[in-house]
Amino acid sequence: GDPGTDTLRTPIVAVLGHVDHGKTSLLDKVRGSAVIEGEAGAITQHIGATAVPLDVISDIAGSLVDPTDFDLPGLLFIDTPGHHSFTTLRSRGGALADIAILVVDVNDGFQPQTIEALDILKRTQTPFVVAANKVDTLPGWNPVEDAPIQQSMETQSDRVQQQLNQELYEIVGELSDHGFSADMYWQVRNFQQNVGVVPVSAMTGEGVPDLLTVMMGLAQRYMKEEMQVDVGGPGVGTVLEVKEEKGFGTTVDIVLYDGTIRADDVIVVGGENNPIVTEVRALLQPRPLAEIRTESRFEQVDEVMAAAGIKVAAPDLDEAMSGAPIRVVRDRPVEEVEREVRSELAEIAVETAEEGVVVKADTLGSLEAMANALEEAEIPIVRAEVGAVAPRDVSVASTADEDTHKTILAFNVDVLDDARRRIEESDVKVFESDVIYQLVEEYDEYVEEIER
Ligand code: GTP
Ligand code: MG
Repeated sequence: GDPGTDTLRTPIVAVLGHVDHGKTSLLDKVRGSAVIEGEAGAITQHIGATAVPLDVISDIAGSLVDPTDFDLPGLLFIDTPGHHSFTTLRSRGGALADIAILVVDVNDGFQPQTIEALDILKRTQTPFVVAANKVDTLPGWNPVEDAPIQQSMETQSDRVQQQLNQELYEIVGELSDHGFSADMYWQVRNFQQNVGVVPVSAMTGEGVPDLLTVMMGLAQRYMKEEMQVDVGGPGVGTVLEVKEEKGFGTTVDIVLYDGTIRADDVIVVGGENNPIVTEVRALLQPRPLAEIRTESRFEQVDEVMAAAGIKVAAPDLDEAMSGAPIRVVRDRPVEEVEREVRSELAEIAVETAEEGVVVKADTLGSLEAMANALEEAEIPIVRAEVGAVAPRDVSVASTADEDTHKTILAFNVDVLDDARRRIEESDVKVFESDVIYQLVEEYDEYVEEIER
């Protein structure tokens, strides 16, 4: 379209779930199916994300999708590895992802990180479906490669069908326990009121056509207005990870959710102390697999348009934070953009009290989620920061008046050696976990014990 006019951008889909439940395998399957359909080139691998255009989705989905029903360009899937908290997927005013897939292993059912994911989807009001994965592992399953799930279910023996239904309704029951009304996706009329459950196998591809169809429908039905962005405007994104990269120094992996970023843009990035103003040195995309043996794993590009995952190399990024905003300056006063970044950071800032526990977390998003959970549990916070547990945190915790506040809650971060030593010599207690509600529960139990 004309520069400056609004265009529909690609919806961002977060793929979430407990460790090993099959998030990456599902995306691998989508990529693999595209290769089989002769559309390999059409799928682009981004940093931390996979872009699947509409025509590829419709090829994979077959009769389930009529591409003329849609005017969104496709879907951008963001994989969240189990060790990495997807609370990082935040943006101004809420969730970075427009919609989500919650992957649940049918045999394993709900696990701590499934519940954690559900809590955050609820809090950020992100529409989602549940992919009930690994149906092929049910004893006696007879695989029908890449088939729509109902077609495949019909060919299964009565016993297998019964077993599957039992597992699926257990998932529906779990969802209901957590306040979501859910049903098999083909029974769902209104995906905003009901969560659709899609049985799939990332191994055999069964149900993958259905999953893509449902996601496309969700995006189209409920997200269209938010997809209207000025794709030619200055880029806005979120930092997912801050990483050392050989030959480039400290880089940031970002998801761009609005506008464009160019290889010569001035950018402002949220930093530990102040917004960082710097100039892009390179925009990097992963090279296609076949070329991975070449000198660099990355390919430089001149410009990227939302939605996209991209690695940004620039000087002075050492203090950049995961979960922080990144904004392109372009044709505006730098101070104005700095103010925007500051105010966005202020929105995330955790309110602290005179007396309370110390909280450390791996990203701004997880810190925000921790603060919310603690507020709900009426646990006051004296200090909340992104980063590893350091000796200074131990000092702060040890000066608390109440014994129950001589505590550090560490979410998904290391405890530095010298901090560990200080803790052993003091009466400060540390709770560590990569599941927020478990941290809160453990702390609550500890308080009960002390007060008994
Ligand atoms: P993390 O990134 O570590 O959180 O795990 P993940 O959710 O990405 O799981 P991943 O895709 O790595 O799969 C974990 C294991 O389950 C692997 O050994 C997969 O091969 C296997 N797996 C995933 N999906 C399926 C499936 O549908 N069927 C079967 N049989 N195995 C599967
Ligand atoms: Mg994975």
